[in-house]
Amino acid sequence: MSRVLAIETSCDETSVAIIDDGCRIVLNDIASQIDFHREFGGVVPEIASRQHTEIISQMTQRALSTAGDRVDAIAVTAGPGLMGSLLVGVCFAKAFAYARELPLVPVHHIEGHLFSPFLQGVPPEFPALALVVSGGHTQLVHCRAAHEYELLGATRDDAVGESFDKVARLLGLPYPGGPSIQRAAESGNPRAYAFPRGMVHSDNLDFSYSGLKTAVLYTLRENPNANLADIAASFQAAAIDILVSKTQSALERTGAPRLLVVGGVAANRLLRDRLAAEIRVPVLAPPIALCTDNAAMIGAAGYSRLAHGFAGNMRLTPNPSLFLV
Ligand code: KG4
Ligand code: ZN
Repeated sequence: MSRVLAIETSCDETSVAIIDDGCRIVLNDIASQIDFHREFGGVVPEIASRQHTEIISQMTQRALSTAGDRVDAIAVTAGPGLMGSLLVGVCFAKAFAYARELPLVPVHHIEGHLFSPFLQGVPPEFPALALVVSGGHTQLVHCRAAHEYELLGATRDDAVGESFDKVARLLGLPYPGGPSIQRAAESGNPRAYAFPRGMVHSDNLDFSYSGLKTAVLYTLRENPNANLADIAASFQAAAIDILVSKTQSALERTGAPRLLVVGGVAANRLLRDRLAAEIRVPVLAPPIALCTDNAAMIGAAGYSRLAHGFAGNMRLTPNPSLFLV
């Protein structure tokens, strides 16, 4: 058995996990900072790094005293993300690896998300097409094998999660916008407003979400008494429509035998339901709790990287704009 201690601090969640054999969660502790950022309507980088600094040691100590002190390697998110936040996790992981003479495995945050469906006791399965939908990314990635990726398409402007967050703000709904909009949309009519489906008819696999956000803004300006639930439902329907349509094209193009849906927006009910109903290959999504940022997924990806010979070294520095491919 191989046990990995994993650390994730790329944005506004401090998370420490212990993973066995890359696919079994022994422990996955997540401290969300949402309450500290909510009044600002988004993540404040300086507050984020301070919070990580305050609790990372305690969380790790608690994890080791709960799960047992022996670990075989340490995996840490090396980027992309907020520089100050990444630094807290990377410096902590380096010190821990040095003190215990353990292998240190840097993990790309999105690669962590790619492994998030494989934390239920069964080892990862590739090839696969991955729809990566988070606050910072909207991508279609062809995973030919573990750690062998081809970027098929990405957003040209806002990420889909970012558009949920921005539209929630326009509607006066609390941060983070995804869950707020999903809740508001439950009592709204998704056909009330015909919002644009950006780039849905283009012959590439790129996305665009800024036009959709602007359309919501103009609708609100022109109809100050508009029903907010109808706007939320119509926005959500358009945002998810784009994802489903582009994913279908990418599946046709690649012939991939399975679809991975990962990242914070993979928690969206409408997206999950539509993919389950309309996609003909098996759809693998993590449980809701593992859609948003967590260290368990970093442990799963880190274990696989180590098994494929990609350990890091003490010269590791975080890279806020790290590319997956
Ligand atoms: O992956 P994640 O935790 O952080 C990043 O790496 O960005 O994703 C956070 C994003 C936020 O934009 C949030 O609004 C969105 O995921 N999100 C959702 C839902 N839950 C979280 N978007 C739509 N529907 C949801 N239920
Ligand atoms: Zn993420």
